[in-house]
Amino acid sequence: MHLTKEEERLLESDTPAVRKAMELLVELGDIYGAEEMVEIESAQASGISYKSIGDPGVEFLEGFAEEGAEVSVTAFANPAGMDFEKYEEMGVSEEFAEKQRRIRDALQEMGVTLSFTCTPYLAGNLPHRGQHVAWAESSAVSFVNSVVGAKTNREGGPSALSAAITGRTPKHGLHLEENRQPTHRIDVDVELDDQSDFAALGSWAGRIVEDGKPYFTGIDAATTDELKALGAAMAASGAVALHFVEGVTTDMEPPEHVDSATFGAGERKAEYAELNDGEDPELVVIGCPHCSPEEIADVAEAVEGETLESDLWVCTSGAVKTWADRNGHTETIEAAGGQVLADTCNVVSPIEEMGYETSATDSAKAANYLPGFGDQQVVFDDKLSLVEEVIER
Ligand code: F3S
Repeated sequence: MHLTKEEERLLESDTPAVRKAMELLVELGDIYGAEEMVEIESAQASGISYKSIGDPGVEFLEGFAEEGAEVSVTAFANPAGMDFEKYEEMGVSEEFAEKQRRIRDALQEMGVTLSFTCTPYLAGNLPHRGQHVAWAESSAVSFVNSVVGAKTNREGGPSALSAAITGRTPKHGLHLEENRQPTHRIDVDVELDDQSDFAALGSWAGRIVEDGKPYFTGIDAATTDELKALGAAMAASGAVALHFVEGVTTDMEPPEHVDSATFGAGERKAEYAELNDGEDPELVVIGCPHCSPEEIADVAEAVEGETLESDLWVCTSGAVKTWADRNGHTETIEAAGGQVLADTCNVVSPIEEMGYETSATDSAKAANYLPGFGDQQVVFDDKLSLVEEVIER
């Protein structure tokens, strides 16, 4: 692998963390056959929930910070295992909270922006088309590659952090234009009526294409929230990091000579059945990926003046929550008995320790992951239908 003089210098740095970060990237580059590094504009580090990384992760991050790790580009953090202010109301133990705070402090020492969100592009980290970045969270990777047009592989936690420290990443995979071509064609032959329909489509498509790059036809229009739901679902049921939506995210012609499949009304119905294995949820969670301001406003409008008979979490970034606070949406949701939570979600928080057996979600990503935590059962539907269902009549 060709290294520049600056990269050689980083590899021989007197600062142990810088040296280790560069060694890791060179090793990864060799594994993937990269010929050189590429400089990045920003990084996004995942694997920072105590639930995901446990004590070894806490010790690794603290040790890395002590060894002089310091980011050299904008670096955002993925969601943590709790809302740092409302963890007690969530039912998170003090022991978990203490470990999560140690992770936060180590990240802060390294200069990571304490954003704790999987939608950095809604909260102050928005690259532009063609820029190289090193992001780790799968739904954010999908969004930034497919909708924004920046370039990233799906990094792991340590490789994203190493990229943040050194300001570069091995140039392979989706950093190379020749690898950013569609591998499958998915014809959508049914109206997608709401965000959960996009999520169901993504969940279905992800299983078919696995780590391919699907090109969708038949979608006339999509909101930013619908596109984030589509990408998140495909990243969870498959490992899709780049997709194309004809006329919406790309002007590219449909690919020829690739495998194709059709998503119609039957497939949509079957996918809802596939994602549903529970009823009567004790907890409704909206905000996977983290909510936009519009999504929170919609939930606030739906619950205004009502009383909820189940718990409701509306998950978002601290930045977006600030706007929800200012606009009175947080107050409205709390008056109905719900909570607007920053920094976390029901997948990366210790949900299995909180006594909920059935939770409801409009996210196919959450619906794919939740059954893996204890005996969680899932109700999957559109967000407003889910909220309506738990309003006391
Ligand atoms: Fe984000 Fe948690 Fe979903 S990290 S994409 S809200 S599983």
